Amino acid sequence: ILRPPRPRPLAGKRVLITAGPTHEAIDPVRYIANRSSGKQGFAIAAAAQAAGADVTLVSGPVDLRDPPGVTVIRVESARDMLHRVEAALPADIAIFAAAVADWRVANEGEQKLKKTSAGMPQLALVENPDILATISKLKENRPPLVIGFAAETEHLIDNAKAKIARKGCDWIVANDVSPATGVMGGDRNTVHLLTRDGEKINVDSTKVESWPVMTKEQVAAELVAKIA
Ligand code: CTP
Ligand code: CA
Repeated sequence: ILRPPRPRPLAGKRVLITAGPTHEAIDPVRYIANRSSGKQGFAIAAAAQAAGADVTLVSGPVDLRDPPGVTVIRVESARDMLHRVEAALPADIAIFAAAVADWRVANEGEQKLKKTSAGMPQLALVENPDILATISKLKENRPPLVIGFAAETEHLIDNAKAKIARKGCDWIVANDVSPATGVMGGDRNTVHLLTRDGEKINVDSTKVESWPVMTKEQVAAELVAKIA
């Protein structure tokens, strides 16, 4: 029996995706991290690959297997992630699903910090580069469609609208990551897709579509369908 070929709406398109947390070293044995599992970003990579795209996935430390047919680049820190993302350009579509650590330790210890009688170590933090904003604002090589995520625990839509304008991306997938939702680390996600048209970086021109609760694979499939 001849089956009709699977539709490949993203054939010939290069898709770049970030996923997972980042780890920011405190010293050689300790780090700052967050609860991101990487599941949503990996699901998007698999869905884009299934739609025929040439997919590069830049992932922080996660306990997930490489999706078949996807080029996976594993990184540790936010700065590593930015460098590998920049090196992976150009892309037609870039999707920033990673939960990048906002801060890193200002002076990473070369040796393991030891308990001393002098008291607690004080960790000074500095801000990490914003990968989504950096790529959104590129003059050359900006992917034609740049999609961010907005992880919020309150004022979800308002914060996400402000984020789309501030970062200069085209779409934002906003989700509530309050502990009660189980989104961080879980298998389901309830998202809102915010889109803005053309050049207008204007909070009022942003459209909001609210999707029902779905598995992260379903969110990925719907997002890829929208992109297609
Ligand atoms: N992001 C990024 N690089 C960073 C921080 C965030 O690329 N250093 C991306 C995330 O991958 C996501 C989007 O920016 O696509 C929004 O991340 P989020 O943490 O929700 O927003 P922030 O701008 O960091 O603001 P805050 O955490 O204060 O809400
Ligand atoms: Ca953040």
